[in-house]
Amino acid sequence: MRRLVSLVVLSLLFAPGAAVAQEGQGLTEEPIGTLAQLMRGIMFPNANKLFDAQAVEPGGELVRLDEQLDELLGDLLAPRMINRINNAAADSMNALMGSTSTRFAAIYRGWPEVEGAAVALADGAKLAMMEGRQCDNGLAAPVDQADYIEGARLLEESAVRVLEGARTQDYDAVWDAINYVNDSCTHCHKTYRDGPDSRQEPRCQ
Ligand code: HEC
Repeated sequence: MRRLVSLVVLSLLFAPGAAVAQEGQGLTEEPIGTLAQLMRGIMFPNANKLFDAQAVEPGGELVRLDEQLDELLGDLLAPRMINRINNAAADSMNALMGSTSTRFAAIYRGWPEVEGAAVALADGAKLAMMEGRQCDNGLAAPVDQADYIEGARLLEESAVRVLEGARTQDYDAVWDAINYVNDSCTHCHKTYRDGPDSRQEPRCQ
């Protein structure tokens, strides 16, 4: 019986397609988007989350504008007027909260959001290094050029520093590491995006 089982296992392993399934696990191996799309999808939004964290320390209390407003209005207006204003405010909040990303913007607020952004950038650096990735202008992303490789390495390294600081909620360390993330973006952009003459933008060469 045991022999039968191992035969079945063996025949599964050597069945045509098994090797492919093991290598790629069903995923395509080529990059899907251009480098610019990767930047817009991963680098830009997640770097902005880190810059937000530099501006306001993660994990603090949200400022309750509605309560402050109620107090202020209470001093100024009759209750009936306050009701009308509150209803109008609720209507505009509903309009504002319409999109899924607005509605769930605060769900991982605070340190978990900083950690998530750091991981996206650290792993995003690897995605920027994938062979076969093209730039928007059709040129291959310069994954074999020293300055590009160094930029990706700096991005991973600085994002990992952010992650480590976020794990221990060390705000000073995180704040500092975010400056290095910014430097890593510039390291690549000054050569491969903005070029010596930013009006010409000879990207990816
Ligand atoms: C490994 C090099 C590298 C790193 C690191 C890098 N970028 Fe880029 N980035 C590029 C290149 C090259 C382009 C131009 C891509 C193209 O035209 O396809 C670009 C383009 C962009 C764009 C413009 C996309 C568009 O619409 O044209 C944005 C925004 C951007 N990067 C943001 C960032 C941010 C933020 C960081 C840092 C967190 C970063 N990048 C880190 C190489 C890099």
